[in-house]
Amino acid sequence: MNSIDEPTWQRLIEEATAASRNAHAPYSKFDVGAALLTSSGEVVRGCNVENATFGATVCAERVALANAVVQGHRQFDALCVITPADRPVAPCGICRQVLAEFALDLPILMVNTHGDRLYVTLAELLPHRFDGRDLK
Ligand code: THU
Repeated sequence: MNSIDEPTWQRLIEEATAASRNAHAPYSKFDVGAALLTSSGEVVRGCNVENATFGATVCAERVALANAVVQGHRQFDALCVITPADRPVAPCGICRQVLAEFALDLPILMVNTHGDRLYVTLAELLPHRFDGRDLK
């Protein structure tokens, strides 16, 4: 189903879990962690950073992506996101679009803190996307 092996997914789950411990989620109490595997084999973490205005909240996936970009990464091989939900939770629409800026397709593992897993790809989550190719 995907090109990422189990030890790598396990590593990403551990990194995402560690990231979730730094979540700033005093309003939702919904701590989210993300781990982005770069094409050079590094893992970059993100957590959700909420704001008292609510609307200025940033999701864990976008924080991971921005964190990676500032470290010079532009190519990614996989993403793992962990949430404390009853079922594995998918990245929101804004995060899908932001991920699509840097990845034509991306294997994504959604996992919850119970250990339930769901594998998808970015292309499945965001078909018929608008991206930089359309501006050429
Ligand atoms: N959240 C994420 O960080 N990623 C997701 O995939 C789903 C939602 C955050 C945003 C907010 O801080 C909290 O979860 C509740 O929506």
